[in-house]
Amino acid sequence: MFSPNEQTESPNHPALQMRGISKSFGPTLVLKKVDIDLRSGEIHALMGENGAGKTTLMKIAAGLIDDFEGDILVEGKPHRMASPRDAARAGIAMIQQELSLVPELAVDENIFLGQEKVRSLFFVDREQQVRAACEVLQPLDFHGRIDLPVAKLRVGEQQLVEVAKALVAKARILIMDEPTSALSINETERLFQVIRKLAKEGVAIVYISHRMEEVFAVADTVTVLRDGQHIGTLSAKVASRREIIRMMVGRELQEMIASGKSETTAQKPVLEVQDLWLENPSPTAARPLLVQSVSFTVAGGEVLGLAGLLGAGRTETLEVLFGLHSGTSGGHVRIEGKEVHLLNPVAAKASGMALVTEDRKRDGLVLGAGIDRNAELAVLRTIAAFGLVSTEGEVELAERTIRDLGIQASSPRQLAGTLSGGNQQKLVIGKWLLTRPRVLLLDEPTRGIDVGAKAEIYRLIGTLAEQGLAIVLVTSELPELTLLSDRILVLREGRPTALLNRAQFSHETILEFASPGGSVQPAFAEMEVAQ
Ligand SMILES: Nc1ncnc2c1ncn2[C@@H]1O[C@H](COP(=O)(O)OP(=O)(O)OP(=O)(O)O)[C@@H](O)[C@H]1O
Ligand SMILES: [Mg+2]
Repeated sequence: MFSPNEQTESPNHPALQMRGISKSFGPTLVLKKVDIDLRSGEIHALMGENGAGKTTLMKIAAGLIDDFEGDILVEGKPHRMASPRDAARAGIAMIQQELSLVPELAVDENIFLGQEKVRSLFFVDREQQVRAACEVLQPLDFHGRIDLPVAKLRVGEQQLVEVAKALVAKARILIMDEPTSALSINETERLFQVIRKLAKEGVAIVYISHRMEEVFAVADTVTVLRDGQHIGTLSAKVASRREIIRMMVGRELQEMIASGKSETTAQKPVLEVQDLWLENPSPTAARPLLVQSVSFTVAGGEVLGLAGLLGAGRTETLEVLFGLHSGTSGGHVRIEGKEVHLLNPVAAKASGMALVTEDRKRDGLVLGAGIDRNAELAVLRTIAAFGLVSTEGEVELAERTIRDLGIQASSPRQLAGTLSGGNQQKLVIGKWLLTRPRVLLLDEPTRGIDVGAKAEIYRLIGTLAEQGLAIVLVTSELPELTLLSDRILVLREGRPTALLNRAQFSHETILEFASPGGSVQPAFAEMEVAQ
């Protein structure tokens, strides 16, 4: 940890300098002599396509990768960064892209891990710890229970716990790897306020994000990496969006974002959902039902978007449909006219549903297995579920699907856990497609994916719809929702408030129906009275 003296003695030195950093994994060189300076009080955005090396560079700064070439200087002095402990001593904290909380420990235990508040030598003072945790979390507008395991929290809330943890560690250099990818608009704004405040207090912030609007909203400086090389560092005040994209992809982005999908001609419904509900597992909660009176149909070839703020019940709706939720739930679901029982994911899969979740680590992939093995597992499981026999063709199909999705990897054998974040997400989608679903439920499918890869995923969603799949899409990015959806069902506090067709799509309209106290379409208002 810095002493305040050290800082005033050397006011002109950057808080952190990385010089000529190179790193290879096996034969692949993923960082090539990268230089970057971070200054106290500066919010420094780090951008680049999936696999550009952003996470790797920052893991080196945070002592999470120790075998690299190059030098690291802290406040102008060379610093050996061989372990997270070294980094912590230098005041560096990193909130990782894939959250690294201990799922079975409570919120306060995670925040104070390694620096527990103790009553005596052996006893942790939980009461004091919970109180202290509460103090850090309150300004972040955290709504979860502090004494419950973090595994019980939604990703958005877990992210706030990570931020709190870094705040408690009094980091002087705080690295955030895509911190807002699972946050709602309000939470993002709240996090920005926290970041700005920290910067004012002299903390150097590294902000990795694929979201251009965010970078312009919060960053002072932007550094772009491409293929492991430092392409340039610009002031965010003078840089243009176009310039940054050109630096990232190495060419002009000529409408790489496809026009979305063509309007569908109405077909008969593939998915029919009626009066879906889900009880709130916490009996004392103000809202006894997390999902209530949710009804909709999705035709083959149609994309139905679910809009809503965090906590509106979008993810829960998908989870109930997929039989994934532990809470008491009910409702009627038909797939191609056949009643489906919402028992468990195995039953859901067998009836033709697939769910791509927002949390790759927990539900998506076997991170310790190769890409080929992950693909193969998906196919084998489906084959097993239908009592078929595996053939070599299936495995080939798996590899081809993975190739078609444009996953960047050194070989099909590369471990899923070592793929860059965006490439992991593509693999998750690919894996589910191999189960040949009729209904595809997508929860934040482009979370953490760069502009180019996003365009590929958009095209993929369009193609899948054209092949006749019924798709339900949840995304917090409104431009994405309006681009891809044929209709949008807006949820607020677990209930539908509006069903919009393309002509009615606008960000203002969606927010009006999504926000507490906003409008409700007459069709849905009547239902509310009737109950
Ligand atoms: N442990 C590892 N073993 C092998 N290759 C790795 C490992 N970690 C990262 N890589 C490779 O290094 C490259 C850079 O990955 P990195 O995670 O730094 O990218 P990124 O810029 O953070 O991408 P994203 O935006 O998708 O998160 C990728 O090609 C990735 O596959
Ligand atoms: Mg990354």
